[in-house]
Amino acid sequence: MAQLLDELTEIYGSGAGAQMARYRAALDAFRAAYGPGPVHLLRAPGRVNLIGEHTDYNHGYVLPVALDRDVLLLARPRSDGQVRLANVEGDFSPRSFAVSDAISSAAAGDWSNYARGPAQELTRLLGAPVPAFDGLVSAAPPFGVPRGAGVSSSSALTVALAVAFAHFAGWRWQGAEMARLCSDAEWYVGTRGGIMDQFIALLAQRGHALFLDCRPDADGDFRTRPIPLPAGYRLLVMDSGVRHANTRNEFNQRVAACRAGVALLRPEYPAITHLRDVENADWPTLEAQLPEEVSVATLRAEGLALGDLPNVPDDAPLRVRACCRHVWTENRRVLETVDALDRGDIRRVGELLDAAHASARNDYRISTPELDALTAAARQIDGVAGARLTGAGWGGCVIALVPDGQVDEFTAQVGRLYTRETGREATIFPCQAGPGAGLVAVAEV
Ligand code: GLA
Repeated sequence: MAQLLDELTEIYGSGAGAQMARYRAALDAFRAAYGPGPVHLLRAPGRVNLIGEHTDYNHGYVLPVALDRDVLLLARPRSDGQVRLANVEGDFSPRSFAVSDAISSAAAGDWSNYARGPAQELTRLLGAPVPAFDGLVSAAPPFGVPRGAGVSSSSALTVALAVAFAHFAGWRWQGAEMARLCSDAEWYVGTRGGIMDQFIALLAQRGHALFLDCRPDADGDFRTRPIPLPAGYRLLVMDSGVRHANTRNEFNQRVAACRAGVALLRPEYPAITHLRDVENADWPTLEAQLPEEVSVATLRAEGLALGDLPNVPDDAPLRVRACCRHVWTENRRVLETVDALDRGDIRRVGELLDAAHASARNDYRISTPELDALTAAARQIDGVAGARLTGAGWGGCVIALVPDGQVDEFTAQVGRLYTRETGREATIFPCQAGPGAGLVAVAEV
Protein backbone atom coordinates (compact mmCIF):
# COMPACT_ATOMS: atom_id res chain seq x y z
CA MET A 1 0.00 0.00 0.00
CA ALA A 2 3.00 2.31 0.57
CA GLN A 3 3.80 1.84 -3.10
CA LEU A 4 0.24 2.75 -4.06
CA LEU A 5 0.54 5.93 -2.02
CA ASP A 6 3.68 6.83 -3.99
CA GLU A 7 1.83 6.31 -7.25
CA LEU A 8 -1.07 8.41 -6.03
CA THR A 9 1.29 11.20 -4.98
CA GLU A 10 2.70 11.24 -8.53
CA ILE A 11 -0.82 11.68 -9.88
CA TYR A 12 -2.68 13.75 -7.31
CA GLY A 13 0.09 15.57 -5.44
CA SER A 14 -1.14 16.79 -2.07
CA GLY A 15 -4.53 15.14 -2.68
CA ALA A 16 -2.97 11.65 -2.48
CA GLY A 17 -3.99 10.98 1.14
CA ALA A 18 -7.69 11.55 0.47
CA GLN A 19 -7.43 9.54 -2.75
CA MET A 20 -5.96 6.63 -0.81
CA ALA A 21 -9.22 6.30 1.12
CA ARG A 22 -11.18 6.38 -2.14
CA TYR A 23 -8.96 3.72 -3.73
CA ARG A 24 -9.24 1.51 -0.62
CA ALA A 25 -13.03 1.74 -0.66
CA ALA A 26 -13.07 0.87 -4.36
CA LEU A 27 -10.81 -2.16 -3.76
CA ASP A 28 -13.19 -3.36 -1.02
CA ALA A 29 -16.16 -2.90 -3.35
CA PHE A 30 -14.35 -4.84 -6.08
CA ARG A 31 -13.64 -7.74 -3.75
CA ALA A 32 -17.27 -7.76 -2.61
CA ALA A 33 -18.48 -7.83 -6.24
CA TYR A 34 -16.00 -10.25 -7.79
CA GLY A 35 -14.09 -12.03 -5.02
CA PRO A 36 -10.42 -12.06 -3.95
CA GLY A 37 -7.44 -11.95 -6.33
CA PRO A 38 -5.36 -9.45 -8.32
CA VAL A 39 -6.88 -6.14 -9.47
CA HIS A 40 -5.59 -3.70 -12.08
CA LEU A 41 -6.25 -0.04 -11.21
CA LEU A 42 -6.67 2.31 -14.16
CA ARG A 43 -7.83 5.88 -14.41
CA ALA A 44 -8.76 8.61 -16.90
CA PRO A 45 -9.28 12.31 -16.04
CA GLY A 46 -11.94 14.86 -16.90
CA ARG A 47 -10.90 18.20 -18.30
CA VAL A 48 -11.63 21.88 -18.65
CA ASN A 49 -10.78 23.76 -21.80
CA LEU A 50 -8.78 26.96 -21.35
CA ILE A 51 -9.87 28.21 -24.77
CA GLY A 52 -10.92 26.84 -28.18
CA GLU A 53 -14.58 25.83 -27.88
CA HIS A 54 -16.38 23.98 -30.68
CA THR A 55 -13.29 24.27 -32.84
CA ASP A 56 -12.14 20.63 -32.67
CA TYR A 57 -14.73 19.17 -35.04
CA ASN A 58 -13.89 22.00 -37.42
CA HIS A 59 -10.22 20.86 -37.49
CA GLY A 60 -9.23 23.91 -35.44
CA TYR A 61 -7.16 24.54 -32.32
CA VAL A 62 -7.88 23.77 -28.64
CA LEU A 63 -6.09 24.22 -25.32
CA PRO A 64 -7.56 21.82 -22.72
CA VAL A 65 -6.24 21.02 -19.22
CA ALA A 66 -6.88 17.75 -17.32
CA LEU A 67 -8.53 17.87 -13.91
CA ASP A 68 -7.48 15.71 -10.98
CA ARG A 69 -11.12 14.51 -10.96
CA ASP A 70 -11.17 11.21 -12.77
CA VAL A 71 -12.85 7.92 -13.54
CA LEU A 72 -11.22 5.11 -11.62
CA LEU A 73 -11.64 1.65 -13.10
CA LEU A 74 -10.72 -1.55 -11.28
CA ALA A 75 -10.44 -4.56 -13.54
CA ARG A 76 -9.50 -8.24 -13.59
CA PRO A 77 -9.29 -10.26 -16.83
CA ARG A 78 -11.75 -13.09 -17.52
CA SER A 79 -11.20 -15.94 -19.90
CA ASP A 80 -14.80 -16.62 -20.97
CA GLY A 81 -15.25 -13.54 -23.19
CA GLN A 82 -17.87 -11.94 -20.91
CA VAL A 83 -17.32 -8.31 -19.90
CA ARG A 84 -19.04 -7.61 -16.59
CA LEU A 85 -19.40 -4.06 -15.32
CA ALA A 86 -20.39 -2.73 -11.93
CA ASN A 87 -20.42 0.80 -10.57
CA VAL A 88 -20.04 2.12 -7.03
CA GLU A 89 -22.94 4.48 -7.80
CA GLY A 90 -26.28 2.77 -7.42
CA ASP A 91 -27.94 4.54 -10.36
CA PHE A 92 -25.73 2.52 -12.73
CA SER A 93 -26.87 -1.08 -12.38
CA PRO A 94 -24.56 -3.97 -13.38
CA ARG A 95 -24.16 -4.74 -17.08
CA SER A 96 -22.56 -7.50 -19.12
CA PHE A 97 -21.88 -8.28 -22.76
CA ALA A 98 -19.85 -10.76 -24.79
CA VAL A 99 -16.79 -9.67 -26.76
CA SER A 100 -16.90 -10.82 -30.39
CA ASP A 101 -16.03 -9.63 -33.90
CA ALA A 102 -19.15 -7.48 -33.94
CA ILE A 103 -20.32 -6.00 -30.64
CA SER A 104 -23.64 -4.27 -31.10
CA SER A 105 -24.54 -1.14 -29.15
CA ALA A 106 -27.12 -1.42 -26.36
CA ALA A 107 -30.21 0.81 -26.21
CA ALA A 108 -29.54 4.56 -26.23
CA GLY A 109 -28.64 5.74 -22.73
CA ASP A 110 -27.36 2.33 -21.58
CA TRP A 111 -24.05 2.92 -19.82
CA SER A 112 -22.50 -0.27 -21.18
CA ASN A 113 -22.18 1.60 -24.51
CA TYR A 114 -19.16 3.36 -23.02
CA ALA A 115 -17.47 -0.05 -22.90
CA ARG A 116 -19.05 -1.60 -26.00
CA GLY A 117 -17.76 1.28 -28.14
CA PRO A 118 -14.04 0.94 -27.29
CA ALA A 119 -14.26 -2.88 -27.22
CA GLN A 120 -15.68 -2.84 -30.74
CA GLU A 121 -13.21 -0.28 -32.09
CA LEU A 122 -10.20 -2.02 -30.57
CA THR A 123 -11.41 -5.40 -31.85
CA ARG A 124 -11.60 -3.90 -35.33
CA LEU A 125 -8.11 -2.41 -35.02
CA LEU A 126 -6.43 -5.53 -33.63
CA GLY A 127 -8.32 -7.93 -35.88
CA ALA A 128 -9.31 -10.17 -32.95
CA PRO A 129 -11.80 -9.87 -30.09
CA VAL A 130 -10.34 -7.96 -27.13
CA PRO A 131 -9.87 -9.75 -23.79
CA ALA A 132 -12.84 -9.49 -21.43
CA PHE A 133 -12.69 -8.39 -17.79
CA ASP A 134 -14.67 -7.83 -14.63
CA GLY A 135 -14.75 -4.07 -14.08
CA LEU A 136 -15.83 -1.74 -11.31
CA VAL A 137 -16.17 1.99 -11.99
CA SER A 138 -15.60 4.49 -9.19
CA ALA A 139 -16.40 8.04 -10.27
CA ALA A 140 -18.61 9.35 -7.48
CA PRO A 141 -18.21 12.89 -6.10
CA PRO A 142 -16.04 14.48 -4.86
CA PHE A 143 -13.23 12.58 -6.63
CA GLY A 144 -15.03 11.57 -9.81
CA VAL A 145 -15.59 13.72 -12.89
CA PRO A 146 -18.86 15.63 -12.29
CA ARG A 147 -21.43 14.27 -14.74
CA GLY A 148 -23.20 16.52 -17.23
CA ALA A 149 -21.08 19.46 -16.10
CA GLY A 150 -19.24 19.95 -19.39
CA VAL A 151 -15.98 18.56 -18.01
CA SER A 152 -15.95 15.46 -20.15
CA SER A 153 -17.19 12.72 -17.84
CA SER A 154 -18.29 10.60 -20.83
CA SER A 155 -14.91 10.72 -22.53
CA ALA A 156 -13.14 9.96 -19.25
CA LEU A 157 -15.28 6.83 -18.87
CA THR A 158 -14.73 5.79 -22.50
CA VAL A 159 -10.98 6.39 -22.23
CA ALA A 160 -10.66 4.49 -18.93
CA LEU A 161 -12.42 1.49 -20.49
CA ALA A 162 -10.41 1.72 -23.72
CA VAL A 163 -7.16 1.87 -21.76
CA ALA A 164 -8.24 -1.23 -19.82
CA PHE A 165 -9.05 -3.22 -22.99
CA ALA A 166 -5.73 -2.11 -24.53
CA HIS A 167 -3.87 -3.02 -21.34
CA PHE A 168 -5.24 -6.57 -21.23
CA ALA A 169 -4.72 -6.96 -25.00
CA GLY A 170 -1.08 -5.95 -24.55
CA TRP A 171 -1.52 -3.14 -27.09
CA ARG A 172 0.89 -0.27 -26.44
CA TRP A 173 -1.17 2.65 -27.65
CA GLN A 174 0.10 5.85 -29.19
CA GLY A 175 -1.71 9.11 -28.42
CA ALA A 176 -3.28 9.96 -31.77
CA GLU A 177 -4.45 6.49 -32.71
CA MET A 178 -5.95 5.84 -29.28
CA ALA A 179 -7.62 9.26 -29.14
CA ARG A 180 -9.21 8.69 -32.49
CA LEU A 181 -10.32 5.21 -31.47
CA CYS A 182 -11.97 6.59 -28.33
CA SER A 183 -13.61 9.38 -30.30
CA ASP A 184 -15.06 6.89 -32.81
CA ALA A 185 -16.16 4.74 -29.86
CA GLU A 186 -18.16 7.64 -28.45
CA TRP A 187 -20.21 7.84 -31.62
CA TYR A 188 -21.92 4.80 -30.12
CA VAL A 189 -23.40 7.23 -27.66
CA GLY A 190 -24.67 9.63 -30.34
CA THR A 191 -22.81 12.95 -29.99
CA ARG A 192 -20.86 14.09 -33.03
CA GLY A 193 -18.08 15.70 -31.01
CA GLY A 194 -14.42 16.15 -31.86
CA ILE A 195 -11.21 14.70 -30.44
CA MET A 196 -10.24 17.23 -27.79
CA ASP A 197 -11.62 15.37 -24.78
CA GLN A 198 -10.02 12.05 -25.64
CA PHE A 199 -6.65 13.65 -26.42
CA ILE A 200 -6.39 15.50 -23.14
CA ALA A 201 -7.64 12.50 -21.14
CA LEU A 202 -4.84 10.44 -22.69
CA LEU A 203 -1.94 12.86 -23.10
CA ALA A 204 -2.25 15.38 -20.26
CA GLN A 205 0.89 16.31 -18.34
CA ARG A 206 0.91 17.62 -14.79
CA GLY A 207 0.89 21.40 -14.53
CA HIS A 208 0.34 21.84 -18.26
CA ALA A 209 -2.39 22.62 -20.74
CA LEU A 210 -2.22 20.76 -24.05
CA PHE A 211 -2.19 22.73 -27.27
CA LEU A 212 -3.73 20.50 -29.92
CA ASP A 213 -4.11 21.19 -33.61
CA CYS A 214 -7.16 19.09 -34.48
CA ARG A 215 -6.25 18.80 -38.14
CA PRO A 216 -4.56 15.44 -38.77
CA ASP A 217 -1.47 15.46 -40.98
CA ALA A 218 -1.00 13.11 -43.93
CA ASP A 219 -0.02 10.24 -41.58
CA GLY A 220 -3.05 10.78 -39.36
CA ASP A 221 -0.92 12.37 -36.62
CA PHE A 222 -1.77 15.51 -34.72
CA ARG A 223 0.46 18.38 -33.63
CA THR A 224 0.48 18.77 -29.85
CA ARG A 225 2.49 20.88 -27.42
CA PRO A 226 2.30 20.93 -23.61
CA ILE A 227 2.00 24.52 -22.41
CA PRO A 228 2.91 25.28 -18.77
CA LEU A 229 0.12 26.95 -16.83
CA PRO A 230 1.04 30.47 -15.71
CA ALA A 231 2.94 30.76 -12.44
CA GLY A 232 1.26 32.86 -9.75
CA TYR A 233 -2.26 32.00 -10.93
CA ARG A 234 -4.78 29.23 -10.20
CA LEU A 235 -7.23 28.00 -12.74
CA LEU A 236 -10.49 27.81 -10.79
CA VAL A 237 -13.53 25.87 -11.95
CA MET A 238 -17.04 26.99 -11.02
CA ASP A 239 -19.79 24.46 -11.56
CA SER A 240 -23.04 26.35 -12.10
CA GLY A 241 -25.10 23.31 -11.09
CA VAL A 242 -27.14 23.73 -14.30
CA ARG A 243 -27.55 20.62 -16.41
CA HIS A 244 -29.14 20.86 -19.83
CA ALA A 245 -31.37 17.94 -20.76
CA ASN A 246 -31.25 18.31 -24.53
CA THR A 247 -27.60 19.10 -25.19
CA ARG A 248 -27.01 16.41 -27.80
CA ASN A 249 -29.58 17.85 -30.21
CA GLU A 250 -28.38 21.41 -29.70
CA PHE A 251 -24.79 20.25 -30.12
CA ASN A 252 -25.49 18.45 -33.38
CA GLN A 253 -27.32 21.54 -34.69
CA ARG A 254 -24.17 23.60 -34.16
CA VAL A 255 -22.16 20.94 -36.01
CA ALA A 256 -24.77 21.16 -38.79
CA ALA A 257 -24.38 24.97 -38.98
CA CYS A 258 -20.60 24.57 -39.41
CA ARG A 259 -21.03 21.89 -42.06
CA ALA A 260 -23.54 24.15 -43.82
CA GLY A 261 -20.88 26.89 -43.80
CA VAL A 262 -18.39 24.51 -45.44
CA ALA A 263 -20.93 23.48 -48.09
CA LEU A 264 -21.80 27.11 -48.85
CA LEU A 265 -18.16 28.20 -49.09
CA ARG A 266 -17.22 25.36 -51.45
CA PRO A 267 -18.03 27.19 -54.72
CA GLU A 268 -15.50 29.85 -53.71
CA TYR A 269 -13.01 27.45 -51.98
CA PRO A 270 -13.27 24.11 -53.83
CA ALA A 271 -10.76 22.30 -51.57
CA ILE A 272 -12.59 23.13 -48.32
CA THR A 273 -13.49 20.19 -46.07
CA HIS A 274 -13.63 21.97 -42.69
CA LEU A 275 -13.90 25.58 -41.54
CA ARG A 276 -10.20 25.43 -40.67
CA ASP A 277 -9.44 25.61 -44.39
CA VAL A 278 -10.49 29.26 -44.52
CA GLU A 279 -8.59 30.40 -41.42
CA ASN A 280 -6.47 32.77 -43.50
CA ALA A 281 -9.29 34.26 -45.55
CA ASP A 282 -10.74 37.65 -44.50
CA TRP A 283 -13.87 37.41 -42.46
CA PRO A 284 -15.79 40.03 -44.53
CA THR A 285 -15.12 37.96 -47.68
CA LEU A 286 -16.37 34.80 -45.99
CA GLU A 287 -19.33 36.45 -44.40
CA ALA A 288 -20.64 37.53 -47.80
CA GLN A 289 -21.13 33.85 -48.73
CA LEU A 290 -22.90 32.84 -45.52
CA PRO A 291 -26.62 33.38 -44.84
CA GLU A 292 -27.67 34.38 -41.36
CA GLU A 293 -30.07 31.50 -41.14
CA VAL A 294 -30.97 28.53 -43.31
CA SER A 295 -32.71 25.19 -42.73
CA VAL A 296 -31.49 21.68 -43.52
CA ALA A 297 -34.46 21.28 -45.87
CA THR A 298 -33.54 24.42 -47.85
CA LEU A 299 -29.95 23.27 -48.17
CA ARG A 300 -31.07 19.85 -49.33
CA ALA A 301 -33.33 21.41 -51.95
CA GLU A 302 -30.19 23.17 -53.25
CA GLY A 303 -28.40 19.82 -53.44
CA LEU A 304 -26.27 20.39 -50.30
CA ALA A 305 -26.12 17.46 -47.85
CA LEU A 306 -24.71 17.77 -44.33
CA GLY A 307 -23.87 14.10 -43.74
CA ASP A 308 -24.80 11.87 -40.85
CA LEU A 309 -26.18 14.03 -38.02
CA PRO A 310 -28.78 12.47 -35.71
CA ASN A 311 -31.50 14.62 -34.21
CA VAL A 312 -31.23 17.65 -36.45
CA PRO A 313 -34.79 18.33 -37.65
CA ASP A 314 -35.28 19.43 -41.25
CA ASP A 315 -36.69 22.77 -40.19
CA ALA A 316 -34.08 23.55 -37.49
CA PRO A 317 -32.83 27.11 -38.08
CA LEU A 318 -29.07 26.86 -38.65
CA ARG A 319 -27.40 30.18 -37.74
CA VAL A 320 -24.63 29.68 -40.24
CA ARG A 321 -23.00 33.10 -40.32
CA ALA A 322 -22.73 33.59 -36.56
CA CYS A 323 -21.60 30.01 -35.90
CA CYS A 324 -18.87 30.22 -38.54
CA ARG A 325 -17.79 33.59 -37.17
CA HIS A 326 -17.37 32.04 -33.73
CA VAL A 327 -15.19 29.24 -35.08
CA TRP A 328 -13.11 31.56 -37.28
CA THR A 329 -12.44 34.06 -34.46
CA GLU A 330 -11.99 31.36 -31.79
CA ASN A 331 -9.20 29.68 -33.73
CA ARG A 332 -7.32 32.98 -33.81
CA ARG A 333 -7.91 33.47 -30.10
CA VAL A 334 -6.39 30.07 -29.30
CA LEU A 335 -3.22 30.82 -31.25
CA GLU A 336 -2.98 34.24 -29.63
CA THR A 337 -3.49 32.71 -26.18
CA VAL A 338 -0.63 30.27 -26.70
CA ASP A 339 1.53 33.17 -27.82
CA ALA A 340 0.53 35.29 -24.80
CA LEU A 341 1.23 32.35 -22.43
CA ASP A 342 4.65 31.89 -24.02
CA ARG A 343 5.35 35.57 -23.41
CA GLY A 344 3.94 35.46 -19.87
CA ASP A 345 1.37 38.12 -20.80
CA ILE A 346 -1.44 36.93 -18.51
CA ARG A 347 -3.39 40.13 -18.93
CA ARG A 348 -3.73 39.38 -22.63
CA VAL A 349 -4.67 35.77 -21.88
CA GLY A 350 -7.48 37.07 -19.69
CA GLU A 351 -8.77 39.42 -22.41
CA LEU A 352 -8.87 36.52 -24.84
CA LEU A 353 -10.80 34.34 -22.36
CA ASP A 354 -13.33 37.13 -21.91
CA ALA A 355 -13.65 37.58 -25.68
CA ALA A 356 -14.11 33.82 -26.11
CA HIS A 357 -16.98 33.87 -23.63
CA ALA A 358 -18.66 36.73 -25.48
CA SER A 359 -18.33 34.87 -28.78
CA ALA A 360 -19.68 31.64 -27.28
CA ARG A 361 -22.64 33.57 -25.83
CA ASN A 362 -23.49 35.88 -28.74
CA ASP A 363 -22.42 33.96 -31.83
CA TYR A 364 -22.50 30.27 -30.92
CA ARG A 365 -25.31 30.79 -28.35
CA ILE A 366 -24.19 28.13 -25.93
CA SER A 367 -24.24 30.16 -22.72
CA THR A 368 -26.98 30.40 -20.11
CA PRO A 369 -27.93 33.20 -17.67
CA GLU A 370 -26.19 31.20 -14.92
CA LEU A 371 -22.91 30.90 -16.84
CA ASP A 372 -23.07 34.61 -17.65
CA ALA A 373 -23.71 35.39 -13.96
CA LEU A 374 -20.68 33.31 -12.93
CA THR A 375 -18.33 34.94 -15.43
CA ALA A 376 -19.56 38.38 -14.39
CA ALA A 377 -19.09 37.54 -10.69
CA ALA A 378 -15.59 36.16 -11.34
CA ARG A 379 -14.52 39.34 -13.11
CA GLN A 380 -15.52 41.43 -10.08
CA ILE A 381 -12.69 39.99 -8.00
CA ASP A 382 -9.48 42.03 -8.03
CA GLY A 383 -6.73 40.64 -10.21
CA VAL A 384 -8.82 38.01 -12.01
CA ALA A 385 -7.35 37.81 -15.51
CA GLY A 386 -10.42 36.48 -17.33
CA ALA A 387 -13.33 34.06 -17.18
CA ARG A 388 -15.31 32.01 -19.65
CA LEU A 389 -17.64 29.05 -19.95
CA THR A 390 -15.82 25.81 -20.67
CA GLY A 391 -16.95 22.69 -22.54
CA ALA A 392 -19.91 22.24 -24.82
CA GLY A 393 -22.10 24.85 -23.04
CA TRP A 394 -25.80 25.01 -22.09
CA GLY A 395 -24.88 24.72 -18.42
CA GLY A 396 -21.92 23.17 -16.68
CA CYS A 397 -18.81 25.08 -15.72
CA VAL A 398 -17.00 28.38 -15.97
CA ILE A 399 -13.24 28.80 -15.50
CA ALA A 400 -11.27 31.80 -14.30
CA LEU A 401 -7.58 32.63 -13.96
CA VAL A 402 -7.21 33.86 -10.39
CA PRO A 403 -4.04 35.22 -8.71
CA ASP A 404 -2.78 32.79 -6.03
CA GLY A 405 -3.35 35.32 -3.27
CA GLN A 406 -6.98 35.87 -4.23
CA VAL A 407 -8.21 32.28 -4.26
CA ASP A 408 -9.94 32.38 -0.83
CA GLU A 409 -11.53 35.76 -1.48
CA PHE A 410 -12.63 34.54 -4.92
CA THR A 411 -14.22 31.37 -3.59
CA ALA A 412 -16.17 33.20 -0.89
CA GLN A 413 -17.29 36.16 -2.97
CA VAL A 414 -18.12 34.49 -6.27
CA GLY A 415 -20.24 31.86 -4.53
CA ARG A 416 -22.13 34.61 -2.70
CA LEU A 417 -22.64 36.78 -5.79
CA TYR A 418 -23.82 33.80 -7.82
CA THR A 419 -26.38 32.76 -5.23
CA ARG A 420 -27.64 36.33 -4.92
CA GLU A 421 -28.04 36.57 -8.68
CA THR A 422 -29.55 33.15 -9.43
CA GLY A 423 -30.65 31.53 -6.17
CA ARG A 424 -28.32 28.60 -6.96
CA GLU A 425 -25.20 27.24 -5.31
CA ALA A 426 -21.98 27.04 -7.31
CA THR A 427 -19.33 24.43 -6.56
CA ILE A 428 -15.90 26.02 -6.87
CA PHE A 429 -12.73 23.93 -7.05
CA PRO A 430 -9.18 24.32 -8.40
CA CYS A 431 -8.06 22.67 -11.61
CA GLN A 432 -4.96 20.76 -10.49
CA ALA A 433 -3.83 19.99 -14.05
CA GLY A 434 -3.23 16.30 -13.46
CA PRO A 435 -1.65 13.70 -15.75
CA GLY A 436 -3.32 11.63 -18.47
CA ALA A 437 -4.91 8.17 -18.34
CA GLY A 438 -3.15 4.92 -17.63
CA LEU A 439 -2.48 2.03 -15.31
CA VAL A 440 -1.92 3.23 -11.74
CA ALA A 441 -0.98 -0.06 -10.07
CA VAL A 442 -1.81 -3.73 -9.71
CA ALA A 443 -3.03 -4.69 -6.23
CA GLU A 444 -4.29 -7.81 -4.47
CA VAL A 445 -7.65 -7.93 -2.69
C1 GLA B 1 -17.77 18.54 -26.20
C2 GLA B 1 -17.16 17.66 -27.30
C3 GLA B 1 -15.78 18.18 -27.68
C4 GLA B 1 -15.84 19.64 -28.06
C5 GLA B 1 -16.55 20.45 -26.96
C6 GLA B 1 -16.76 21.89 -27.35
O1 GLA B 1 -17.03 18.42 -25.04
O2 GLA B 1 -17.07 16.34 -26.85
O3 GLA B 1 -15.24 17.40 -28.72
O4 GLA B 1 -16.47 19.79 -29.30
O5 GLA B 1 -17.79 19.89 -26.62
O6 GLA B 1 -15.56 22.56 -27.50
